[in-house]
Amino acid sequence: VPGPTSTDMARVFRSVRRDPLTFLGQVQRRYGDLVSFPVPGSPALLVNDPDDVRQVLQTGARHWGKSTVQYAALGRVTGPGLLASAEPNWIEHRRLAAPAFHHERLTAVSGRVRSAADDAMRTTLPTDGPGVVDVASLMHRIGLDAVGRALFSADLGGHADDLLHASSQAAEIVVRLGRSILPTAEWAPTRTNLRLRSARRRLDTVTAQLMAERRARPSAPGAVPHGDDLLGLLLDSGLTDREVRDELVTMVIAGHETVAASLTWTLMLLAEDRDAQERVRDELATLPGPVSLLDHRDRIPWTRAVIDEALRLFPPAWVVSRRSDRDDVLGGVEVPAGTLAIISPWLVHRRPDVWSDPEEFRPERFLETGAGRTAYLPFGQGPRLCIGRELALGEMAVVLDRLLATHHVGLPAGWRRPDPEAQVAVHPRGGMHLELTPLPVS
Ligand code: HEM
Repeated sequence: VPGPTSTDMARVFRSVRRDPLTFLGQVQRRYGDLVSFPVPGSPALLVNDPDDVRQVLQTGARHWGKSTVQYAALGRVTGPGLLASAEPNWIEHRRLAAPAFHHERLTAVSGRVRSAADDAMRTTLPTDGPGVVDVASLMHRIGLDAVGRALFSADLGGHADDLLHASSQAAEIVVRLGRSILPTAEWAPTRTNLRLRSARRRLDTVTAQLMAERRARPSAPGAVPHGDDLLGLLLDSGLTDREVRDELVTMVIAGHETVAASLTWTLMLLAEDRDAQERVRDELATLPGPVSLLDHRDRIPWTRAVIDEALRLFPPAWVVSRRSDRDDVLGGVEVPAGTLAIISPWLVHRRPDVWSDPEEFRPERFLETGAGRTAYLPFGQGPRLCIGRELALGEMAVVLDRLLATHHVGLPAGWRRPDPEAQVAVHPRGGMHLELTPLPVS
């Protein structure tokens, strides 16, 4: 399998640290769809062909597990929560959490997500004339608040600053650890370990408070003891407090940065394409009431196409990884047990053989049946598909509805697209400053 040689590796690691998205693109252009990296320990392959991606994530998912540096690093914050777990008992936790994401439940909490959006926008958006707003930061706040209200029935308002700070600090360290060549001992008093410990302590405190507040809440006669949201399901499930904590931290980390990043890029693309923005506004205005978390499924095809296209161009989860516990064949080549597979939705979504003019924002392509679907995985594929997919798509539609109903999104003077920066999610470096103008009240 072609790829950089071991003498290139120091340069490779430097490039991965500096700008992994550009680096991965260069490597793929130079070496093709299956690229080998001579990393210490085990063989590592960048897997880019949609059939091979499916083999790793779906068909061969039983033997391609999550024992990788990426998920070990995440696990240092989330513990073996749903996302990072490499354990076979992952499926039990998934079954426990699943009802919190069922359709009826999502329909019931649509209003809460709407309020989360309205509350954050009320204090941030200009009301009398155009104003420049960092929508990345606004979307972070909404993303966090929406997770709190939809899944924990909790107003995270009092904890918001602490949670945002602790989870972004933790995320930054997870990224650093995930990209390091050699694992650092967890006990060593390095700066990274100390900062990680402090972020973890703050996450522990907030989650312990959430659990204690819920346990102290009296339940209505005949109702589910702790409530039927995710927090209640977990508390009633027989999991230990530690396990509940791990799932709550997982949802906070997996559920707010990703949605915030997707919304931020969507707003940028709509600011750059006024016609697409008008069409979203018009479509949302035709609904008889406010958008619900499930409307994206079939009632707002253009808005959904915009969201899908934004997730194609800027997939927040830009890399996923797996390790095989037995020999397999990828791209016609035998790969031994222990091989690390690195899959980048960022690259797969830019394949010119599947997506015509892949760098162009063209939501129409998602209105054509089946177009490109084999090479599209913003939420992953197979049994470890994102559990929050429907909630995330719904949140995006609800936030777009609330924001575009009252404001036009435009580009400020001297506009230049911010560079995408690959952190836990792909964020705009330096924020996303867009011009928001209140629409005349009709
Ligand atoms: C898994 C992306 C929103 C919770 C995943 C995976 C991807 C992903 C790619 C699969 C990772 C892998 O296979 O290694 C996204 C994107 C989102 C989003 C792009 C937003 C646009 C959410 C939300 C939540 C969430 C809102 C919950 C509140 C999870 C969890 C898993 C997961 C718990 C692990 C599922 C399992 O392994 O059983 N997500 N996600 N995500 N996501 Fe999301």
